[in-house]
Amino acid sequence: MLTIAIGKGRTQEGALPLLARAGIRMSDDELNSRRLALTDETGQYRFIFVKPADVPVYVEHGIADCGVVGRDVLLETEADLLLPLDLGIARCSIVVAAVDTDVMTRAAGMLRVATKYSRIASTHFGARGIPVEIIQLSGSVELAPALGLADLIVDLVETGRTLRENGLSVVEVIGESSGRLVVNRASYQLKAEEVARLVNALKLVGQD
Ligand code: PRP
Repeated sequence: MLTIAIGKGRTQEGALPLLARAGIRMSDDELNSRRLALTDETGQYRFIFVKPADVPVYVEHGIADCGVVGRDVLLETEADLLLPLDLGIARCSIVVAAVDTDVMTRAAGMLRVATKYSRIASTHFGARGIPVEIIQLSGSVELAPALGLADLIVDLVETGRTLRENGLSVVEVIGESSGRLVVNRASYQLKAEEVARLVNALKLVGQD
């Protein structure tokens, strides 16, 4: 049996229909329950549903053989995982946003950047030689500029609605994200056949 960790939220919403198209389904009873570990109808796969940032942790430690997680999380955590497939789900952009899109050119002192993605933000501004103070938040990052906590945010944008409704605009796009299938290094060797079956099944139905 393969254990697959799925990031809850946006990734899960994209992953379940994709898995179903690949013939990997969970019963409605299972899906409607609050259980965080489910087995598919064939008994070949066990799914664990965890916070997106925890997917690489479960997979790297071998608790899960595979994971489905956004590229944003992988860039942020830099876990040692094999990345066999872009699933083309949960597409979004990683952006810098602000109330005033000229804030970077106008700022006199050090800019404050609120984000859940401190590594991505540090790397981005570091590479451009822009000194920033990173303010680490866990969510609702779009509130920070309006409340005076930060000048800029680094966050995900999918439809753009959250930015818009909080008076923010995109200053620059750092990169694109989509859901990836990741595999534990040992599982890739020890469960080669099962992993290959999963990868092939997902490739056939993928939007890539
Ligand atoms: C992300 C991001 C925004 C929202 C953007 O949050 O932080 O809040 O999605 O989507 P939109 O452009 O379609 O409005 P996410 O749902 O990943 O979870 P979070 O609340 O934990 O940040």
